[in-house]
Amino acid sequence: VDSAVTAIAHPNIALVKYWGKRDEEYILPHTDSLSVTLDIYPTTTTVRLDTALDRDQVTVNRAPATGEMLTRIRTFLDLVRGMSGRAEYLRVDTTNTVPTGAGLASSASGFAALALAAAVAYGLDLNPTGLSRLARRGSGSACRSIFGGFALWHAGTGIGEEGDLSSYADPIDAGALDLALVVAVVDAAPKEISSRAAMRRTIETSPLYAPWAESSHQDLADMRAAITRGDLDAVGEIAERNALGMHATMLAARPAVRYLSPASLRVLDCVGQLRRTGIGAFATMDAGPNVKVLCRGGHAERVADALRSLSDTRSVITARPGPGARLPDGD
Ligand code: DP6
Repeated sequence: VDSAVTAIAHPNIALVKYWGKRDEEYILPHTDSLSVTLDIYPTTTTVRLDTALDRDQVTVNRAPATGEMLTRIRTFLDLVRGMSGRAEYLRVDTTNTVPTGAGLASSASGFAALALAAAVAYGLDLNPTGLSRLARRGSGSACRSIFGGFALWHAGTGIGEEGDLSSYADPIDAGALDLALVVAVVDAAPKEISSRAAMRRTIETSPLYAPWAESSHQDLADMRAAITRGDLDAVGEIAERNALGMHATMLAARPAVRYLSPASLRVLDCVGQLRRTGIGAFATMDAGPNVKVLCRGGHAERVADALRSLSDTRSVITARPGPGARLPDGD
């Protein structure tokens, strides 16, 4: 009854983005995406089976989870129970060091850690592919945080059960790449519209969605080639164009979805200036105003200093590729 399972996972940042689902229930994307898992902001989740409970009880940073977050977690745990044939509910205690809802992908580390902890607690015997597929059901981007370093999430084919089998992440080798990601936190306020709702609106109303999804195939092919040859400038250029294109699809949605703030654009200006001084720095942005700047490891300090000198940058943190989801106790 009181045997606890703890899992840790880290956020990932997509260099070729996931934006748009072809199947909302199974969380199947329209396009492949490619990410790097970071070594910052881990989520630690402990689960305990408890026969005395009549529902899952969840705390996040010691406070009871409520609302949409609680519903998503319970729906996910219902799925895990369905797979395991077990009925007991869980106590879930999660500690999140990511500023929640600020476009720093706390749902990716959160559902990767929860998928691993719950799978172990309910005795599911899953290989990494199976774990990645399971994490995807919680939040699409979570399937990539199962793996450390670089990961490619295959969109797969079909919908429903068929799509479910074919859509998971795989680790990819990026041995030659010396990448750092400098995160400029400009505003940690919760977002006005969730990425889930924003992607739905984009698909349903944006005339730019289809062309972006189409161009994303080429971005992915170019990105894989750039990673293989260890070409960091090309990796950064492709990541930046893919992210700006994704934001363009949202700006063209009706009504428009705009995550980038004036402060985000000032960070983009700064990145452009760094490039003109010969530093290979490139920006990527997710469903929030913060900007993640890609550069080589040896330039990270100079990039961080430049970002820190901007008046509306609240904090700057440098990340490197980090580990996949794991059980710290080795159980
Ligand atoms: C902009 O994985 O949070 O960060 O599947 O609805 O939970 P759901 O969405 P989520 O979306 C992440 C979108 C993104 C781009 C990316 O990480 O690829």
